[in-house]
Amino acid sequence: MNYGVAITGVGAYAPPGILTNEDLEKLVDTSDEWIVQRTGMKRRHIAAPDEATSDIGIPAALAALDAARKKPSDLDCVIVATATPDYLFPATSCIIAARLGIPGTAAFDVMIGCSGFVYSLTTAAALVRSGVYKTILIIGAETLSKLVDYTDRATCVLFGDGAGAVVVERSDEDCFLGSELGAEGSDPSVLYLPAGGSRIPPSRNGETAAQRLGYIKMQGKAVFKFAVQQMADATLAALKKAGLTAADVDFVVPHQANKRIVDATMKMLQLPLERCISNIDEYGNTSSASIPIALAESIRAGQIKKGNIVVFVAFGAGLSWGAVVWRWTGAPVGAVPEGAGEIAAAGRMNSTAPKAPRQ
Ligand code: ACO
Repeated sequence: MNYGVAITGVGAYAPPGILTNEDLEKLVDTSDEWIVQRTGMKRRHIAAPDEATSDIGIPAALAALDAARKKPSDLDCVIVATATPDYLFPATSCIIAARLGIPGTAAFDVMIGCSGFVYSLTTAAALVRSGVYKTILIIGAETLSKLVDYTDRATCVLFGDGAGAVVVERSDEDCFLGSELGAEGSDPSVLYLPAGGSRIPPSRNGETAAQRLGYIKMQGKAVFKFAVQQMADATLAALKKAGLTAADVDFVVPHQANKRIVDATMKMLQLPLERCISNIDEYGNTSSASIPIALAESIRAGQIKKGNIVVFVAFGAGLSWGAVVWRWTGAPVGAVPEGAGEIAAAGRMNSTAPKAPRQ
């Protein structure tokens, strides 16, 4: 038996700390002009030193649950897409589920770089469609600032922190129209975190610190070329599975990696930029969180509407890629619970005083 699947609530949260291009000019040899021209980024949100990924994932999760009119106890499963878990183990999803007051509920993390949200959405949709679960919470949450080398101008300008969440539920309508996922891992060094896993264990602290192996390393140009081609190809493949073409797409919600990558992808798809949801200026690249944050903002702003055909498309470490075609049902965005800080809203968040991240 195949059941219908819908997203019934969306939430987002970003920590109030702000890192501007001008702040970065004081840390490395860069300029606001270079960053804006090459990436489209102006600001990023940065978690506090004692804030971990689960801490920023929870307000986004509660906002999505609120929008879907669900209680944590209604959930059958919690999926966290992240490249920056609290710990290598236990999974961040287990920690979040416990803090939501639902220990015992199935929970797992999806660690596939910035493609995490589209992989998670495909997985959740398949689990609901097949009848395994009725209600699943997906959280894309990242604290990339903890892994960024703020002495490396080629990477430190790109990344920010944030979280977005969606509730995926069994529904009379079927919104999951098609998906295309892929990965090609022959050269991990294109985009990776060298230390902290079994190849260079965290116990080798001296070596890691001396060689700066505990920070994100990236071959930017190689990733750029790969990204444009794969985002376009994955979108077209997912649309084909859905029986649609690019002309049927009302909105693309891409992974917010670089404005030039996104613009080039839209050009390859022969779609106008007005159909692209972009908030890269405000957040930078928040990896697995970038699509659900952009989705939350676009709903708040009244851009994506009921009945629209939406493509979520991403690429990331792996290298990995994925696209999901979704019919939008008009799910609302929830408010962030009191005391939780600021939500990614259409009016954009207020910033605190600029603050350079800890090194
Ligand atoms: N400020 C000033 N100059 C800079 C900076 C900076 N922040 N960074 C690099 N440069 C310099 C370089 O040193 C180089 O100088 P040179 O010509 O004297 O050698 C020059 O600018 C051009 O450098 P390129 O690397 O060729 O610049 P490019 O136009 O390719 O832009 C960028 C670099 C923005 C990193 C781009 O390649 C990019 O966006 N790549 C993809 C990044 C990405 O999306 N990563 C995804 C991560 S997702 C995940 O899974 C975590």
